[in-house]
Amino acid sequence: MKSQAPFIIAVDGYSSCGKSTYARLIAKELNYVYIDSGAMYRAVALYAIEKNLVSEKEIDIETLKKSLDSIQITFRLNQASGLQETWLNGVNVEEKIRGIEVSGVVSKISKIREVREKMVAIQRTMGSNGGVVMDGRDIGSVVFPGAALKIFMTACTDVRAMRRYKELKEKGIDITIDEVKENIRMRDHEDENRKESPLTRAHDAIILDNSHMTVEQQMTWFRETWKKILKTHED
Ligand code: DC
Repeated sequence: MKSQAPFIIAVDGYSSCGKSTYARLIAKELNYVYIDSGAMYRAVALYAIEKNLVSEKEIDIETLKKSLDSIQITFRLNQASGLQETWLNGVNVEEKIRGIEVSGVVSKISKIREVREKMVAIQRTMGSNGGVVMDGRDIGSVVFPGAALKIFMTACTDVRAMRRYKELKEKGIDITIDEVKENIRMRDHEDENRKESPLTRAHDAIILDNSHMTVEQQMTWFRETWKKILKTHED
């Protein structure tokens, strides 16, 4: 046996590919902890908004950098729902960080090198004992390059747009499919082209294109892949 379980599993990929649903299901199956790294960038964005560091035109990056030591982000289990929720400086912000105000500014926040350094340090601490499934953009490439399994999720733009469109409609948000598509293209572009830790597939990540797969088919793919990974660790 080369290494002892539990391991770390990294789930990276494009937005609206179903990464969080998938990572959560994998964590449940293995009895691992699920960590949503995007929620952490969202919490920093919310902090910046609440401290009035965000105006229509720009973000007060210098003040935000100086405030980083005052930002404490944790995850706590909601016993009733069984889901991990995001807390910012002792306040449950799970709902607020999913709103459009935060969504509109978070990609600019996640470009800031000092913000990334702090988030990566917290993520590494959270994963230090293993037994973690973490999803994001740079988990396999930067945060845990030694993860036992790295999954890079992708799906064609039309499929992702339709999934996101349905989600937003269910929430009662008035939007057209073309607007959703445009938003997805913009986010892909920003994720792939930012200077700090752009979205990129780690050389040893396995691509999962789920354009035409059900969640159950994706779980079957995971079980087969995981069996092979465990076998390599036994040899
Ligand atoms: O996955 P999400 O949409 O909740 O992510 C929110 C933002 O944070 C998005 O702009 C991508 C960014 N992000 C990142 O830069 N690195 C991560 N590991 C996770 C998310």
